[in-house]
Amino acid sequence: MIPLIFSTITGNAFKLAAAAAEAVPDHCGPYNIRYITDEVVDMFDTFIISYWCNHGTADDDTIALLSRMKDKNIIIIGTLGAARDSKHGEDVFRNVNELVSKQNRLVGHYLCRGSIDLKRTARKLRIPEGVKGHLSPERFERQKESLGHPDSAELEGVKTAVAGFLAQLEQANPVNPNSNNATCGCTNCKHTNSDQAAKA
Ligand SMILES: Cc1cc2nc3c(=O)[nH]c(=O)nc-3n(C[C@H](O)[C@H](O)[C@H](O)COP(=O)(O)O)c2cc1C
Repeated sequence: MIPLIFSTITGNAFKLAAAAAEAVPDHCGPYNIRYITDEVVDMFDTFIISYWCNHGTADDDTIALLSRMKDKNIIIIGTLGAARDSKHGEDVFRNVNELVSKQNRLVGHYLCRGSIDLKRTARKLRIPEGVKGHLSPERFERQKESLGHPDSAELEGVKTAVAGFLAQLEQANPVNPNSNNATCGCTNCKHTNSDQAAKA
């Protein structure tokens, strides 16, 4: 069982997590990151975490959750307001890879664009030039390009990416036949050892 967890302020990370869930046959969630206790962290080896980009890296709740995880397999997915193929997009991708790898195993990372809340940023147009937080009309115009993201291609993209990451993970860690998650061995059987134990 693989839990999906999302951290969001405007909903993009939830959309991404919900799409990714379709590529994970044995999943639970998506769960709001605010409800992830240490007991939940202890229950699973592999997690899919959907973040939003805040100031060039992952948001604070995602950073805090990752710091409470150790030696977990992490598939990280997220959105940023800038174009994915910009230098900023590459910097965010690298920063988040480093963050995840600090004390966990990075299995894969999917990053795409997410719409920016323009009502929020428009207020910054009123901050005078030279004052912290000022947003130029040109930058505001560029932010409009984020609207509509993640789009259907990006939602398909996250599904394909996550399916690939899970296949890699399975190849690297073939299921231990003695583990509770291993199938019981009969042809085409989907039962697990724990199901068999429950039946006995
Ligand atoms: C406080 C704040 C900081 C942000 N920082 C960045 C940033 O550094 N780079 C970027 O590309 N987008 C940035 N964004 C845009 C969000 O990452 C983007 O809109 C994301 O899709 C929001 O996801 P959500 O809907 O799940 O909250 C920022 C947004 C906010 C509100």
